Amino acid sequence: MIKPILLMASCVLALVSANVSADPIVIKFSHVVAETTPKGKGALMFKRLVEERLAGEVRVEVYPNSTLYGDANELQALQNNDVQMLAPSMAKFDAYTKQLQVFDLPFLFDDLEAVNRFQKRSQGRHLLRSMEDHNITGLAYWHNGMKQLSATQPLRRPEDARGLAFRIQPSAVLEAQFGQLGAPTQKLPFAKVYQALASGTVQGAENPWSNIHSQNLHSVQPYITESNHGVLDYMLVANNRFWYSIPHRVRVELETIIDEVTYEVNKEAEALNQAHREQIMRSGKAQILTLSSEERMAWREAMRPVWKQFEPVIGADIIRAAERVNH
Ligand code: LMR
Repeated sequence: MIKPILLMASCVLALVSANVSADPIVIKFSHVVAETTPKGKGALMFKRLVEERLAGEVRVEVYPNSTLYGDANELQALQNNDVQMLAPSMAKFDAYTKQLQVFDLPFLFDDLEAVNRFQKRSQGRHLLRSMEDHNITGLAYWHNGMKQLSATQPLRRPEDARGLAFRIQPSAVLEAQFGQLGAPTQKLPFAKVYQALASGTVQGAENPWSNIHSQNLHSVQPYITESNHGVLDYMLVANNRFWYSIPHRVRVELETIIDEVTYEVNKEAEALNQAHREQIMRSGKAQILTLSSEERMAWREAMRPVWKQFEPVIGADIIRAAERVNH
């Protein structure tokens, strides 16, 4: 009788110690925006669903607002596996692939629905794999929204921007876009934007409503032109080697969660931006200028030469595919 009892006891011990030694996989997810924005909410929803469905197996730590890494070093940290997931805007990948610059071309996409269609088609899906040589794998596209121009003075026509310095993300396309307007640019990390505008280092910027609102940029930019001139979207990325080292069953569950989060982020992004637009308007701190179709056309014409300039770099086929998604 003694033997089976001993055997059972040692089995229980083995099980307990197996559980203790199986540490959960830790995913550090770092980003640069507030938790009230589409990306901030998406990161938190990802963490919540992983906690519900993969408790004890995977732990997600979210670091918002550039608290762990900022624009200057987060992609390097991802490649070093110091963080495992990020969702930088497309412009931030400039050093790794030129193809993603398509997303920054001014007036290419009419609205977020068009962006959606492009991302779902083969050219868009293919771009998720464009940085694997750099140990970066694309998992999904997350929307923020269309960008608006803000400045210390009203911008109604393209010539109003001449000579004003604009903060831009680190993108050659965005530099060229403002170059077309005769406006100098400074590439600054997102965490520095408020200070640069408040101190007058730069006089203008381009952001979706949620970023303007969450950074309180409207308190230092008295005029915001509802230009919808380009899109600010994200690619959810992971360290490639880390991602494919995750046991298959767990990775499939993570991918299912990512699909659900992506659906929610992209469904809510536009409404969230509109709510933030309303709050900016009600704050009375900045005046929102809407453009007539003739004024909007003038901005489009002024910025459009950038397409030709970047066609050889991005690829004519990718630009044509993006153009076709507008109705
Ligand atoms: C910016 O730098 O303006 C944006 O990319 C920030 C963000 O992540 O939305």
